[in-house]
Amino acid sequence: MCGIVGYIGNQDAKEVLLQGLEKLEYRGYDSAGLAVINQGDVQIFKEKGRIADLRRVVNQKILSCIGIGHTRWATHGKPSTKNAHPHQCNIGRFTIVHNGVIENYEQLKHRYLSEVHLKSDTDTEIIVQMISEFSKYTDTEEAFIKTLELLKGSYAIALLDKEDEETIYVAKNKSPLLIGIGDTFNVIASDAMATIQLTDQYVEIMDEEVVILKRDKVIIKRLNGEIIKRDSYRAELDTKDIDKGTYPHFMLKEIEEQPFVLRNIIQKYMDENGELTIDKNILNSMNDTDRIYIIAAGSSYHAGLIGKQYIEKVSKVQVEVHISSEFAYNTPLLSERPFFIFISQSGETADSRSVLVNIKKLGYPSLTITNVPGSTLSRECDYTLLLHAGPEIAVASTKAYTAQVAVLAILAEVTARSKKIQVNFDLIQELSLVANTMEVLCNCKDTYVNIAQKFFSTTRNAFFIGRGMDYYVGLEGALKLKEISYIQAEGFAGGELKHGTIALIEEGTPIVALSTQEGINLSIRGNVKEVVARGANPCIISLKGLEQDGDTFTIPEVHEFLTPIVSVIPLQLISYYAALHRDCDVDKPRNLAKSVTVE
Ligand code: F6R
Repeated sequence: MCGIVGYIGNQDAKEVLLQGLEKLEYRGYDSAGLAVINQGDVQIFKEKGRIADLRRVVNQKILSCIGIGHTRWATHGKPSTKNAHPHQCNIGRFTIVHNGVIENYEQLKHRYLSEVHLKSDTDTEIIVQMISEFSKYTDTEEAFIKTLELLKGSYAIALLDKEDEETIYVAKNKSPLLIGIGDTFNVIASDAMATIQLTDQYVEIMDEEVVILKRDKVIIKRLNGEIIKRDSYRAELDTKDIDKGTYPHFMLKEIEEQPFVLRNIIQKYMDENGELTIDKNILNSMNDTDRIYIIAAGSSYHAGLIGKQYIEKVSKVQVEVHISSEFAYNTPLLSERPFFIFISQSGETADSRSVLVNIKKLGYPSLTITNVPGSTLSRECDYTLLLHAGPEIAVASTKAYTAQVAVLAILAEVTARSKKIQVNFDLIQELSLVANTMEVLCNCKDTYVNIAQKFFSTTRNAFFIGRGMDYYVGLEGALKLKEISYIQAEGFAGGELKHGTIALIEEGTPIVALSTQEGINLSIRGNVKEVVARGANPCIISLKGLEQDGDTFTIPEVHEFLTPIVSVIPLQLISYYAALHRDCDVDKPRNLAKSVTVE
């Protein structure tokens, strides 16, 4: 949430910053801005809206070799040019960009800035005004550290001092930030994606550390002044993975990548004997625990619900699935030997991290299933299982979601084998069939265009129903539709509609019903009849072999256990075409951000 980029070197900083911000736009796109210093003169450009809007207002004639930039997802203060970053202190000496939330900003404002006129409604401005106040009595580094020591909350900060064109001051707590190392320059970025075209060498900054960044030097310190030595690592990002290529949208590209991602996952989790394998330490934890707690948010939570079915049914371990923001503040009674699994595409979700911090204090073991190696959750959990899905840029998760479900299936199967529990199907073979089926499904675009037009071109609301695992896929389908097309869509357990929500059914209300599970097929059809009798317009998606006359779309047969990985594909593509039809910004839906780094 919010993206930061900074540059110090010999090139034109503003262009590096603009290009970096374009890559970070997925982190927030309410407003954007940048600041550069040119011979003691700080130039700030900011604009409400997208990076393209910022680019239009940046004075192309300004040349500078140092600067910081920001793309914002509003927390304190509504999206506006006034609230856009960078923020500057009143005397104009210090300029900062900030990602995170300062929880005690009201107290700090009253305590330290009662005499200072604040120009914005943001929590960020108080940071730069405090640095300015403290700098009256000490040097910039000291003033910065003194301010950091008083902040409560999350932050990734880059600070410019116009009296020193050779330094960017950087700090982080909870919010992500990396230092990129070049030969004649150094950069900072919320995500290596922003600057990967400049360097693939990165150094992590840990919480409560300060970095003094020069063009030829990186000094990392703890807040107490102790200097830290840390090696750089190579960021394995392919620049073509972060390019749309010939696709009109990242979302469509990422949906179509799903069969390749699945095949990649099979390869990555296969050993030299052709068997699926998982790190022994993870298996030990899976076998030692008396209950698994899956913690996740949004689509990752939906993947977790399916993961519970896999782990309980195949590896016979009890599982609870929790929404991270709920668990963090309303922790349930824990079992004697809990094992925590954090599912997170980004590995940065603040709500999940907050749970991790608490359970680590209690000494419980943890695993994250994430797409981003080196992300906060990956660094801080005991173990990581990677999704190997490649960067997901569209805000709505598609390939990361199906990758999560696939990795959970592998985890369940390998755990079962390690416990000598009989698994009566060949998961590699079944997943390979699923990959082929995904390809077939991705090629039915005309059908999805027609369904999107028929059911979702003008409706204000829609319901998704299913039973068992179909219910969880319905939750994900509803989330996809609402987040990118702004149709109010809800997923329900098929039997639950009649307990209240059926009151909302009107003539023509679209109901998407999933029917992929033998045994509950007839019950869900009964639920469809109930709503059709009240005027609903049913769109029935069924698995081959379970279909009936009048169904809207049939999915080729795959193993019943793995249907959630395929049945979601028509839902992703129908949402995509519904959003296009309604002229919505598919890759960057309003009010959202890809990586939610505030609680
Ligand atoms: C929806 C979506 C979100 C995320 C949620 C958690 O398409 O992407 O619901 O799933 O914000 O994010 P991660 O998985 O990064 O923890």
